[in-house]
Amino acid sequence: QSQGWGRGGRLTFTPVPPNKDDVLSVPSGYLSAAVVRWGDPVLPDAPAFDFDNQTAEAQARQFGYNCDFVTVFPMGHSRALMWVNHEYSDENLMFRGYTGGAAATEEQIRIGLAAHGGSVVEIERAGRTGQWKLVTKGRRRYNRRITAQTPMRFSGPAAGSDLLKTAADPEGRTPVGMLNNCAGGTTPWGTVLTAEENFNQYFVLGSATDPNAKRYSLPTGTAGRRFDRVEERFDLSKHPNEANRFGWIVEIDPFDPDSTPIKRTALGRFAHEAATTTIAKDGRLVAYMGDDTRFEYIYKFVSKNRYIPGHDRHNRTLLDEGTLYVAVFTGDGAEDGLHDGTGEWKKLVSGDVSDVEGMTAEEVLVFTRVAADKKGATRMDRPEDIERNPVTGGVFVALTNNSNRTAAEVDEANPRPSNKHGHVLEIMEHRNDAAATTFTWSLPLICGDPNDPTTYFAGFDKTKVSPISCPDNVAFDGDGNLWISTDGNQLGSNDGLFVMPVQGRERGYLRQFLTVPLGAETCGPLISQDQRSVFVAVQHPGELAGANPDAPASHWPDGGSSQPRPSVAVVWHSQGKKIGA
Ligand code: FEO
Ligand code: CA
Ligand code: CA
Ligand code: CA
Repeated sequence: QSQGWGRGGRLTFTPVPPNKDDVLSVPSGYLSAAVVRWGDPVLPDAPAFDFDNQTAEAQARQFGYNCDFVTVFPMGHSRALMWVNHEYSDENLMFRGYTGGAAATEEQIRIGLAAHGGSVVEIERAGRTGQWKLVTKGRRRYNRRITAQTPMRFSGPAAGSDLLKTAADPEGRTPVGMLNNCAGGTTPWGTVLTAEENFNQYFVLGSATDPNAKRYSLPTGTAGRRFDRVEERFDLSKHPNEANRFGWIVEIDPFDPDSTPIKRTALGRFAHEAATTTIAKDGRLVAYMGDDTRFEYIYKFVSKNRYIPGHDRHNRTLLDEGTLYVAVFTGDGAEDGLHDGTGEWKKLVSGDVSDVEGMTAEEVLVFTRVAADKKGATRMDRPEDIERNPVTGGVFVALTNNSNRTAAEVDEANPRPSNKHGHVLEIMEHRNDAAATTFTWSLPLICGDPNDPTTYFAGFDKTKVSPISCPDNVAFDGDGNLWISTDGNQLGSNDGLFVMPVQGRERGYLRQFLTVPLGAETCGPLISQDQRSVFVAVQHPGELAGANPDAPASHWPDGGSSQPRPSVAVVWHSQGKKIGA
């Protein structure tokens, strides 16, 4: 009932008020610092960052742009490996005078390719508090950059499928690079799962008639970054299957810098926000996943075989064979005054056996949205990050917003038309077993200005809570408190990070823990295992309409008249107290 209290999870910090300041604002008693910034050397031989003299060769060795998912693998008490996604590039903030991909120099386009992907960096504890710093000296043998040009491989049932074959890879097994890696997850065996989200935007001249191309919104024109000008594979009129090689969950071993990243086809292809793993009651591995586009679906993968602690070689096969499901939500009616009901996980494919009429297993995995359409999945308000509460087992999903939902399209799980501020959904699996095929669900948080009567803070006194809009990433601390970062605050102030107890007397008492600088969204977040540090990725500071390098809207984190640099920051209590104190 109140384990969060029993474990000392009480939150006593003074909330940060909404603001439009160009700083990282933290509660009284807390400090913050950038850990690693766009352009900082990742590989030991990388040159120092030089905004006005960028090269693709340097960027491929430096920290990439627009940091998103952050995870940390401890290596003892005072060292750790940090993995960070680089979701996308903001060329109009990266280059002076940038007017679009058609007029860009080929070097600028190559810098953009190299700014994508992810980074592995060593970090070290600074002093006795929760501050961490980038290791800048020594061998740093794990440090690595992954980019849009890193050789990868496919595994699982669709590897080698005709749908994945191209002129450059007639076997359909060796894709090159990853794109738009948004959030992610980790595995129990210590690897990263990184999620390719809006990969469609990187292509040109997609088919205007192919229904699968349309279902994945592949562009039919020639807009955007124009990667096709330096790599022909991005021109779908010449290489139509190249787009099928993106939109996957990619597994990366941060402790093996020579390892080849693996695109796990058993987890399906869509605008993957993230993949969160947990273990079912019988030991099978489960991965929860959202497709972050308006009216898209929530999925889960359940492995065929069981996780065996310590059996690394066996465990690394688990994501290649299993069953992929999509969620259907049914409301129990508004009469009870709650948005809640029951649900079912509908089977799409199991191993190489399709459960969808008229589609092969390979087709289900490559065109997963089409398969889910046929199963009557529930169209959601943009499923973003998903996390399982370590204390209660509840599975929490951020539904960021959906301004396109009409009054005729509302349902109990997506209850507001023109949903500007989004909501959070909790799934409680049958018998709290992650492998169950039925569940109950409810909406513990409906976001917005607390004065807005359509908002809901789990029944808590709305005069006491912080306003919140557009939940994106979610995380739990060890006490089971829900942390929520936002992207695209529609209430007029900066994005930030919030925390809300989901049990006990303070259930629903949502408070703002930090705000990010102007134009930025808040990613990560990660509460360290010792609960002394909060890591957040400050993505796209200064990304406001009309912003450009000659008149930056943000100067974070370096201050003065500097260019804004997307960076991972760490927040800690000045006296080393537990986060939230
Ligand atoms: Fe890249 Fe769904 O946020
Ligand atoms: Ca109800
Ligand atoms: Ca988002
Ligand atoms: Ca996101």
